[in-house]
Amino acid sequence: MTPDMRSAVRIAIVVAAVLALAIPLAAIAGARDGDTSAGDAAPPSFTRDVAPIVADKCAGCHQTGGIAPFPLETAGQISSKAALIATAVKSGVMPPWPPGRRSPEYVGQATRTLSVQQRATILAWAKAGGKVDGPARRAPAAKPPEVRADETLLDLRMPTAYKPSAPKGVTDDYRCFLLDPKQSGDVSVTSARIEPGQARVVHHVILFRVAPAQIAEARALDGSDSGLGWSCFGGTGLAAGDDAGSFVDSLNDASWVSAWAPGWGGNRLPDGTGVPLARGSQIVMQVHYNLLNGRAPDRSRALLTVAPASAGLTPLKTMLLPGPVELACAPAERGRLCSRNEALFDLSRKYGSGAAFVPAGLLILCRGTASTPVPKATSTCDRRITAPTTIHIAAGHMHLLGSAIRLELNPGTPRAKVLLDIPRWDFHWQNAYALERAVNAAPGDVVRITCRHDVHKRMHGAHGVPKTPRYILWGEGTTDEMCLGILQVTRG
Ligand code: HEC
Repeated sequence: MTPDMRSAVRIAIVVAAVLALAIPLAAIAGARDGDTSAGDAAPPSFTRDVAPIVADKCAGCHQTGGIAPFPLETAGQISSKAALIATAVKSGVMPPWPPGRRSPEYVGQATRTLSVQQRATILAWAKAGGKVDGPARRAPAAKPPEVRADETLLDLRMPTAYKPSAPKGVTDDYRCFLLDPKQSGDVSVTSARIEPGQARVVHHVILFRVAPAQIAEARALDGSDSGLGWSCFGGTGLAAGDDAGSFVDSLNDASWVSAWAPGWGGNRLPDGTGVPLARGSQIVMQVHYNLLNGRAPDRSRALLTVAPASAGLTPLKTMLLPGPVELACAPAERGRLCSRNEALFDLSRKYGSGAAFVPAGLLILCRGTASTPVPKATSTCDRRITAPTTIHIAAGHMHLLGSAIRLELNPGTPRAKVLLDIPRWDFHWQNAYALERAVNAAPGDVVRITCRHDVHKRMHGAHGVPKTPRYILWGEGTTDEMCLGILQVTRG
């Protein structure tokens, strides 16, 4: 072959390949620059191409009685929302997946996000008018929890129904419920799943372990609030850990068990590991109710699989990586609580004097001194690893003014590794992410949490943000903030 012929063949092959992929490629091009035409290629078929994607990736939440505001179950429902679907998919808002591009790959990511091709298919279909050529598909039925040979299924149900409520003008209720697994021996939790009583209102759930020594305090909280459970926002409201060990010890072995959000299945912990639940421990189930969807009484269940101590699982421990929060009022804002001292007094009035020491404690932990706090929108804190550690699961936690959060290992060195990067924090989509490839850390390695908060979210009246200008410090309430990295690790 002459060079010309060779390049002609090469071009022919490329053209053939492009034709074979015509629809997705045209759609990708369209998706990228928005307004180029999808070309002459036939638009994707609704029933063949679009319906399976919507059934797999959307209908778990977008179903009658589900958490999403409208169902995407029938061809008519999907077609009538084609333009809105395209906007939400194009901007990356739907399906909800907060980790950004710098994040590593997580377990189950492919089942909860759209592939480039799926995204392109939806956009090309919507662009061609969102037409229907046949029926929609049913969302796959949820599988029952997997219970392995040596495991027991614990069905922890709220003892009675709870009717979500909130003060006028507030659309979220955060409620903690104490659940008793009644285990007569030491066990390890190996998976956790929530069966919402009212799927329409249960937005996300976090499970915490309550050590036997903390149960009296939890019962007191439960009794102090009318109705089942107690009001809680940033955490359980319980004092951290038991009294044994140092402050950093308590941060290195905290009480997290698992997080759950709609559309997530079993949440099985990494094979061979489990969260230890000592005999007599209980569970706090913290539920975020979204009142925009109503206030129907809810009676949710936590389904946990547990293995006995004899299974010899490696304990999965929770490391907390808090960073200071020192967020001044914006220059245009005025008010008494814009003074840091007034904000500190306010914290101690609301939560007791202990709460007012936390901001200083965090400055000492992360900066070495609390004497001259400098307000900053971005906060970091480094923690040195002291024992060989394998990092399995990463999560971040901030409140309503949070705007970005990142957890990384050995930042600024050749061994740097991002564990979690959420470039657009949304309090309403919190979860924990299991690393597809667990990361090993050696003594001397550094884990860094970096949080960015944005007071402008308050000035712009973002959803649910209390409006009074104030100097924001670390605290449990909706008017306070947190900057918290959470790692679930095994050691040794
Ligand atoms: C994990 C649950 C969940 C999944 C999965 C999900 N959605 Fe949603 N969707 C919601 C909720 C909840 C809302 C309401 C807005 C919010 O809370 O962010 C919403 C809102 C929307 C909106 C309205 C957005 C607006 O700006 O008003 C569209 C359109 C949408 N979803 C489309 C989709 C499509 C298409 C998929 C699949 C590719 C999908 N969603 C997957 C839960 C989900």
